Amino acid sequence: MGIAVRPLGDAVGAEISGVDIARLGDDDFAAVERAWHTHSMILLRGQTLGGDDLLAFSRRFGELDPPPNQERGRISPPGYPEIYVVSNVLDKNGDPIGALGAGEAVWHTDMSYLDTPPDASMLYALEIPPEGGDTWFCGMQAACEALPADLARRLEGRRIKHDGTYNSGGYLRKGVTPTDDPMAAPGAWHPAILRHPANGRATLYFGRRRNSYVEGLSRADSDALLEDLWAHVTQPQFVYRHVWRVGDLVMWDNRSTMHRRDPFDGAARRIMHRTQIKGGAKPVAFAA
Ligand code: SIN
Repeated sequence: MGIAVRPLGDAVGAEISGVDIARLGDDDFAAVERAWHTHSMILLRGQTLGGDDLLAFSRRFGELDPPPNQERGRISPPGYPEIYVVSNVLDKNGDPIGALGAGEAVWHTDMSYLDTPPDASMLYALEIPPEGGDTWFCGMQAACEALPADLARRLEGRRIKHDGTYNSGGYLRKGVTPTDDPMAAPGAWHPAILRHPANGRATLYFGRRRNSYVEGLSRADSDALLEDLWAHVTQPQFVYRHVWRVGDLVMWDNRSTMHRRDPFDGAARRIMHRTQIKGGAKPVAFAA
């Protein structure tokens, strides 16, 4: 059976079928990469991947970034320091085997508190709860192209401060001093509207809402603008909801998507392995 690409929505996402990631020839890999550039998020179901398979597939897209510093630092499966575990499961000592627990993870793009954030991330589902824990993706290129004129004018030429204090689960990153002052918070400044290096399209780039700040505005004006922008980008027409099955591999472009996760029953088990592809360059502003 040949490879097939089926869009999952108008703004973001495509499912690719007919592919076994662990045995992927160069032509099929090129088709997967094209689909990723076109749809910003790809889903490949029914994969059976060990740590080496996940790393080998990830490395076909570029050098890997180390995992993010989360609430308990960087937790990886033994022998795989480039894989980051997202899980609520506890080990025999009662310590979490991964990050983010069972709560909601709010909308964000990965590691944008760095000057050069990872271009992409992958998440591979090993165990999933019977319900909950769905992951939602938002297409920031479609949202950018549909930006109302008033919002575009208020945002024009601005940069946004991306916070590195808290992760998407609301947890303080290990070793970081708590603050809700965007100017005191560790993080990075990025243009609010980027030029996507692969397809040249404009894309909104927001990071996380908490401790976010629009350069050159009062805190009140910045918060008002951010509220309007976040309400715009998270409208249903820009969003795809992913209901996981074991063996799903999802890859997303951090420059042109955001994602969030629903909470789930903490008594159920959810184990995901994630990798992140190093950024090729610092984000660059879109010049119309
Ligand atoms: C993440 O934000 O990387 C994790 C998303 C999820 O657990 O579905």
